Amino acid sequence: MKDDRIEQLLQNFNEANLQPLWTLESDIMPHKPNPKSIPFLWKWEKLYELAEEAGELITLERGGDRRAIALANPGLGGMPFATETLWMAVQWLNGKEVAPAHRHTPQAIRFIVDGAGSYSTVEGDKVYLERGDLVLNPPLLWHDHGSESEERAIWIDGLDIPLTKYLNANFFEPMHKDTQEVNTIKNYSILKYGSGTLKPAWEREKPVYPPMSTFKWVKTEQALLDLAKSGAACPHDDIAMEYINPLTGNPVMKTFSCWIQMLRPNVHTQAHREVCSTVYFVFEGSGYSVIDGIRFDWKQGDLFVVPNWKLHEHINTSNERAILFSINDRPTMELLDKYRAEKYEENGGHQIVTSVFE
Ligand SMILES: [Fe+2]
Ligand SMILES: [Fe+2]
Repeated sequence: MKDDRIEQLLQNFNEANLQPLWTLESDIMPHKPNPKSIPFLWKWEKLYELAEEAGELITLERGGDRRAIALANPGLGGMPFATETLWMAVQWLNGKEVAPAHRHTPQAIRFIVDGAGSYSTVEGDKVYLERGDLVLNPPLLWHDHGSESEERAIWIDGLDIPLTKYLNANFFEPMHKDTQEVNTIKNYSILKYGSGTLKPAWEREKPVYPPMSTFKWVKTEQALLDLAKSGAACPHDDIAMEYINPLTGNPVMKTFSCWIQMLRPNVHTQAHREVCSTVYFVFEGSGYSVIDGIRFDWKQGDLFVVPNWKLHEHINTSNERAILFSINDRPTMELLDKYRAEKYEENGGHQIVTSVFE
């Protein structure tokens, strides 16, 4: 009798568009994070081959904007997202091509794989791009880019599109012309603020976003080499550095952070897990990462994902340095008081490999 009434009650809830918590708890309040995104790896050869073909077949139309091919995590049901919060894509720009000016609320970065005479203009500041440069596109700043050479350029785009979509906070605006006016000498913001440790003395502002549009590889590489020389290293990430706004010390974007890390020859880091998701791009070298017990072998150009709260450790199997560029949503988690991390103590800090990703 009581059972019948309970069943009727559940049905009545349903008809009234109500749901009782006691039937939902493990789904909406699990004991620990249970992400839908899965650890995954995309091979560079395949990405390159398909991006090249897109370069032949797909033209850039004004307003249509970018030839970017997004990582679609198989755990996310066909959505073009690398993780629940992060978008990452490979972008291909043909020689002499222009990607028209636009602006948007998603926070964005570009990490240059091959600059080949290309440039990026952000809010009137035009910078020429080289391999390893990081370009920033804070929200609602106008940006366009193009190639002045005959050669194609290729880079990695990172944005907080999934988070922005979830928050229903997306705005997008085309400029209705291909290129915005350049109102300074070329590389202006790098010349003015690129030292990173010194600034024009008469300026007292502390802008939320970094004052320079681009971090040049030559300085980034030197910072990695210097940190390695200091003898300091992170047990989980070896020689790892976070790109920061030099005027505030904060990550370059509010919702996600950009890292560059060098795994020294034959280094094997200690596993840990964190409440944040990370997308890696292998800039140099080869090795493997163990994520949630699965071994992912990687080499230059590959991209891979560590979802929220999955154990991970990195191994450089070669006698050369390996360099990983990555973005992670840790700033969002910290801002919202949700960040946690936990060291893996068993087995000397190394996971047991249960399968190998093919
Ligand atoms: Fe954009
Ligand atoms: Fe980590």
